[in-house]
Amino acid sequence: MRKKVIAGNWKMNFTPTKAEEFAQEMKNKINTDAVDVVICVPYVNLQSVQKVFEGTHIKVGAQNMHYMDDGAYTGEISGLMLGDMGVPYVIIGHSERRERFGETDTTINLKTLKALEHGITPIICVGESQKQRKSGRTENVLRKQIAFALDELSASDVTKVVIAYEPIWAIGTGEVATSKQANEACAFIRGQIHKRFGDSAAACVRILYGGSVTDETANELFSMSDIDGGLIGGASVVPSFEKVVHFG
Ligand code: 13P
Repeated sequence: MRKKVIAGNWKMNFTPTKAEEFAQEMKNKINTDAVDVVICVPYVNLQSVQKVFEGTHIKVGAQNMHYMDDGAYTGEISGLMLGDMGVPYVIIGHSERRERFGETDTTINLKTLKALEHGITPIICVGESQKQRKSGRTENVLRKQIAFALDELSASDVTKVVIAYEPIWAIGTGEVATSKQANEACAFIRGQIHKRFGDSAAACVRILYGGSVTDETANELFSMSDIDGGLIGGASVVPSFEKVVHFG
């Protein structure tokens, strides 16, 4: 039985002051052990939000990292740094980073390997665009993204990663995938992992759905056979995030 993961992605929202206030507000409301609750915050909010959630079940993650440990990479943050701060999760390869910040399948793979090396669980994002879905290329896109992201991982490494299926057309658009569409895509991803890494990796790996999930759609999505929780954007920076977590 896979434990569900409900991960919030705050994206570029909340000043440090506001972040602390909102975390305080969420602290008691979402302190459950029934699912793994992760809140991925901007780097500048990591320490203060960690402090607020200290002693609770809520984990604080990052939204990106560099694949080198240190060096001349102005403006970057490494997995070594995040590991030293006790950050247990990091989002890798979000479509906003792929589309706007030149993230490639190769850098996503390097970051995944590096996160695992530092004991950080990568939440690897994959997903097709509207054009790709409309032209029937969804499975090809997912096959390629998964193959690249998991290159050089062992079957046991794969049990430690979390995959987030986030169709680009559903992100921030209010157009949520149907539970059937989302489940089919997650099952397809699990099938790819089964082919390459075998029974145990496919049975253990947690695959989330992300894209316009709200407290109104979470229940049905999270009850599907191959959906092990959600990666939540807009609905994670409002008080009703509490409800989304409790549908997990
Ligand atoms: P929304 O929930 O705002 O659509 O964002 C989803 C997402 O990108 C989470 O990473």
